Formats: sequence, C-alpha cells, structure tokens
Amino acid sequence: MLPERSGYCKIRVFLFLLLLSGALRGESPSLSSGIYSELQAQRGADLYVVHCAHCHLPSFYTNVDVAWNGMSVLDFYYKVSGSMPADNPRNLSQPEYLNIVAWVLAVNGYPSGNSPMLLSNKLGLVKFKSNK
Ligand code: HEC
Repeated sequence: MLPERSGYCKIRVFLFLLLLSGALRGESPSLSSGIYSELQAQRGADLYVVHCAHCHLPSFYTNVDVAWNGMSVLDFYYKVSGSMPADNPRNLSQPEYLNIVAWVLAVNGYPSGNSPMLLSNKLGLVKFKSNK
C-alpha cells in the first residue's frame, strides 16, 4: 500500500514542476515588454553620433517596424553588426552593436526594461510589425 501511495505523490510533484517550468518558459519576450535597458540606449545614442551620424540621420531609424516588418530584432542586429558602419564594417564590439539596437528601439518608442538586452534573450522571436 505505502510504496504505491508515495509513487503517486512523486508523479503529482513531477506534474506540478512540469507545469511550473512551462509557465516560466511561456513568458516570451516582445517589443513592448522592455527588452533593453535605459543605459544601453543611452550608450547607443553616443555610439550613433560617432559611428553612424555622418551617413544616417536619426530619422532613418524611426520607422524600423515598417522597414523591418516581419523580421526580428536579431535580424536587425545581424544587419547592423554585419555590415555597418559601411565605411568600417564589423568594427564595433557585440555589446556596442546591442547598445545601438537598443537606441533604435528607444527612438521608435519601445519601452526599456530592467535587464539589458543580450543575444541569448531569444531576440529571434521578437518580430517587428508595421501595424503595431
Ligand atoms: C559610410 C556611410 C555609412 C555609415 C557610417 C553607416 N551606414 Fe548604415 N548604411 C549605409 C548605406 C549606404 C546603406 C544602404 C546599403 C545597405 O543596406 O547595406 C546603409 C544601410 C543601413 C541599414 C539597413 C537599412 C534597411 O532598412 O535595410 C541599417 C539598419 C544601417 N545602415 C544602420 C547603420 C548603423 C547602426 C550605423 C552605425 C553603426 C551605420 N549604419 C553607419 C551607409 C552607412
């Protein structure tokens, strides 16, 4: 009798943990959930002045949802980090490119959050939509 009962309890604990981990994983990031930090955007603004402003006006970035409709924040990161600045491609560090992406999100009115944006933050799942 007793062994059977404790086995049943273990299954219930297991199912509960499964449910809990599912709930935690289900929390998917979105542009409105604050995926970058204020500090990143501030640093990005400074980097933009030095590395991008001589070719692009800030208004170049303000319709990112239209230009990048259906694409992800990770796609945008790869474009910027892979080919910009056009006169010196791939010359900034990964954190610096992330700062610039954070600044672009800020310029487009997306809120900052408590944690900095990292490449490991499922940015490929965060999509731009022209009809936000
Ligand atoms: C020397 C001039 C120059 C500099 C400096 C420069 N860009 Fe560009 N950028 C271009 C040109 C030209 C294009 C269009 C060709 C292309 O898409 O590769 C472009 C395209 C882009 C695009 C793609 C636009 C789109 O919607 O497809 C993004 C994003 C971008 N630049 C961001 C940046 C950022 C961020 C910086 C600073 C780190 C930067 N650029 C610095 C010249 C420049």
